Amino acid sequence: MQIVVMGAGYVGLVSAACFAEFGHKVTCIDQDAKRIARLNQGEIPIFEPGLDELVAKNVERGTLQFGAGLLPALTSADAVFIAVGTPTRRGDGHADLSFVYTAAEEIARNLQRYTVVITKSTVPVGTCREITKVMRKANLKAEFDVCSNPEFLREGSAINDFMRPDRVIIGCETERASAVIQALYRPLYLIETPMVITAPETAEMIKYASNAFLATKITFINEIADLCEKTGADVQIVAKGMGLDGRIGRKFLHAGPGYGGSCFPKDAIALVRTAQDKGAPLRLVEATIDINRQRKKNMAMRVMDACDGSVRGKSIAVLGLTFKPNTDDMRDSVSLDIIPALQRAGAVIRAYDPAGMEEAKTLLKDVVWCNGPFEAMQGADAAVLLTEWNEFRALDIQRMKAALKQPVMVDLRNVYKPEDMERAGFRYVSIGR
Ligand code: UDX
Repeated sequence: MQIVVMGAGYVGLVSAACFAEFGHKVTCIDQDAKRIARLNQGEIPIFEPGLDELVAKNVERGTLQFGAGLLPALTSADAVFIAVGTPTRRGDGHADLSFVYTAAEEIARNLQRYTVVITKSTVPVGTCREITKVMRKANLKAEFDVCSNPEFLREGSAINDFMRPDRVIIGCETERASAVIQALYRPLYLIETPMVITAPETAEMIKYASNAFLATKITFINEIADLCEKTGADVQIVAKGMGLDGRIGRKFLHAGPGYGGSCFPKDAIALVRTAQDKGAPLRLVEATIDINRQRKKNMAMRVMDACDGSVRGKSIAVLGLTFKPNTDDMRDSVSLDIIPALQRAGAVIRAYDPAGMEEAKTLLKDVVWCNGPFEAMQGADAAVLLTEWNEFRALDIQRMKAALKQPVMVDLRNVYKPEDMERAGFRYVSIGR
């Protein structure tokens, strides 16, 4: 089948490369001509393990190409995916859909045959219907269906999530459109991936409800972690014990400094705004957002407490800056709360991240940028483990002790064992144990 993917951002690029890998003929377009030029030179503008190989392989075999304009790819397309950005709108927290509607109008004006238009970007409930209206207005005669096919890609494992998803959600209203989307995902039938075919509103809601639920699940275990600290319980084992209950499940019960990233914070806020507007407030999700925001702010206090109440004049090594490992994404990362807070309290920050430093340099000021974890720890009064990159999971404890001026470690991802650290003479602070 022939597909156009509009938007060469994170979701667009991964989807385009994966559909091409399935054997479809994919054209990925973006209004940013520079981005397209870079892609055509084989440069991948985002960090995602395996994406560069997948793109190169499919460009080589002719299943994937990049372009700046919608035509001529649209002429022979069976489906167009809208994968443009939906940032949080300034002021009111709603998702800003202007890029989506502009894309929809452009598609409508240029349609020449029946085409299925599919939203991949996370869009508020009701957007598919709005897109239909916008397209109809732009072109009375066009033949199309607008469907929702939300993505559930985690940064750092997006290709695997696309190729081996837990489920595919298809929100559409006609058999004709449903048949096209199912044909696009045909390779997944072999691995018996469940497909949920439903109305567009329901599909749109599944995406938001899933993300809000996961954000709430993380926030729940984070609060339990705080209580564990007061009661002497160990949150790691509590999470394991809870997770073995099939009704609860083990995943996303890892206590930490609070969730970040490009999706959970933005999607939870957008869902809460929709709910308030519709007069059906989601108080649990509202609380999740507040608790998480406050938690990220409070993390600097943990570091100060570990440093005898003050970091003034002290040097703090920060290991990891991205919101999670295997990405260069800094969006809503806890590092953006914790580092400025420590700096305001008088600390000098020495930081290292395996992939996020380029982006971090544009967001954080007056940081001593280091080339590795030990360089960051050299002469520092304490180390803070912020992101659980593999590179930080098995650091030589004695070498850390030798590098640091004081053996103090604040491990916000519970990577190390308290008994090992204490045996080595560290003052070791982790989460919920
Ligand atoms: C998320 C969803 O998982 C994905 O389905 C959706 O489509 C996009 O948003 P992503 O933002 O890439 O993916 O990262 P994810 O792995 O879900 O982690 C999000 C945040 O939660 C990170 O800050 C992570 O550190 C945190 N987290 C996750 C925890 O603190 N504890 C956990 O147990 C899991």
